[in-house]
Amino acid sequence: MSSMEMNNSSHRVTQYLRDCAIGAAPGTRLPSVRDIMRTYRVSPVTVQRAIDTLAEAGLIEARPGQGTFVREQQVASARPDADYGWQSLALGSPRAVADGLNSLLRMPMPDVMALNLGYLPEESLPLAQLAAAGGRALRRPGVWARVPIEGLEALRAWFASQAGDAFTPGEVTICPGTQAANAAAFRALAQAGDPVLIESPSYTGAIAAALAAGLRLIPVPTDEEGVRPELLEEAFVRTGARLFYCQPTFSNPTGAVLSPARRRSVLDILGRAGAFLIEDDWARDFALEGEPPPPLAQDDAHGHVVYIRSLTKSAAPGLRIGAICARGAALERLRMARLVDDFSVPGLMQETALQLVTAPGWPRHLRALRAELRHRRDLLAAAVTRHLGPGALRRIPAGGLHLWMSLPPGVSDLDIARRAAAASVLVGAGRHWFPAEAPSPYLRLSFAGARPDWIETAVGTLAALIADPG
Ligand SMILES: Cc1ncc(COP(=O)(O)O)c(C=O)c1O
Repeated sequence: MSSMEMNNSSHRVTQYLRDCAIGAAPGTRLPSVRDIMRTYRVSPVTVQRAIDTLAEAGLIEARPGQGTFVREQQVASARPDADYGWQSLALGSPRAVADGLNSLLRMPMPDVMALNLGYLPEESLPLAQLAAAGGRALRRPGVWARVPIEGLEALRAWFASQAGDAFTPGEVTICPGTQAANAAAFRALAQAGDPVLIESPSYTGAIAAALAAGLRLIPVPTDEEGVRPELLEEAFVRTGARLFYCQPTFSNPTGAVLSPARRRSVLDILGRAGAFLIEDDWARDFALEGEPPPPLAQDDAHGHVVYIRSLTKSAAPGLRIGAICARGAALERLRMARLVDDFSVPGLMQETALQLVTAPGWPRHLRALRAELRHRRDLLAAAVTRHLGPGALRRIPAGGLHLWMSLPPGVSDLDIARRAAAASVLVGAGRHWFPAEAPSPYLRLSFAGARPDWIETAVGTLAALIADPG
């Protein structure tokens, strides 16, 4: 059998097993290796390869001597004699339930139409540049030695320059990505039980991190121009909050950009409230229509804005390097929070990041990436409008990675997301992006991984599910 034929049969067997597993109850036994070999006329190696692929994706599990099963969610079921009842009493109810984050970060199964990616797909990663940067990093003297807790000086200088020199390198702390930076900021800038203001809708990971820090979320509504200043001011006055989490540029999920007039109002309100603003600038590299507005931090003279950037989005999800920038006592608090969490970020990762972003190929990668993302955004938006009407998208975002799609009233976002997954189309149920009740149903569609060859099929499938309430 040629290698191409082998690939084809392996693909068909994977597809078959996946179809059996999706929609079947956890614990369901799947066809035996022998049955599959007979049906598809393939070798045991081919079947095993398909099983390994799906097991790695977390969809199925092989139980030695018993067969292959749709994976159980409960780890406990793998040990039928154990009694974990005492743990329920010991643990009590959880502080934060991160369902949204969990479904977002689950590894995508092979051969699905993934419109739920928060990161670049494999085909968009600068793999050769990463390999070269990693190679150079490995050869750097002292790469395995201890690194300063605040991070490598040269990398901090690079992040400072990215913020338009609103911060000096001394005011930058390297973190393992934005999630770690947000979590540290919530803990360092507020105390458990404190109110924290957050745009509604907002990033599900920030919602989870604030809840895990024991904070009380106060949603502040947004519109086409970002957060509504009159409601922000009222929320500060009413709650006495001293912290506001905000994405002024290409907000996840809506793509909104804080308008120039509102930037000034928001900073004035912060000044009057004596409050901090966490500026999560996650999408600065994904400006798809010209230059993005400067970071809000640039207009802040008095240390109100704590600024966060990351390379996980535009470089690679595996390059978990970001930075948090702050001034005054807040800088020290944040540094201590990061120190207590995990001492420092591995030097090899920091050095790799530095080698990558200072190489001549980096701006080239960003340019190519933006062109590809623009193309995918336009194709996906056009397909949504064609299948679901012009009202489905209120905005074609000028940056970021997502479309925020309205569902007709009464349609359940969770139900559509679940049925779409069974039809191999993965989308985000909008409710996970609301810190309180969702005012109406939405889906979040990511164009990052939307492949031009299946966009039409995926959106057609969604439209059919929405038209048929099931
Ligand atoms: C707004 C926002 N902040 C933070 C993150 C987390 O990013 P990182 O991978 O850098 O932790 C994401 C990822 O989706 C995001 O969308």
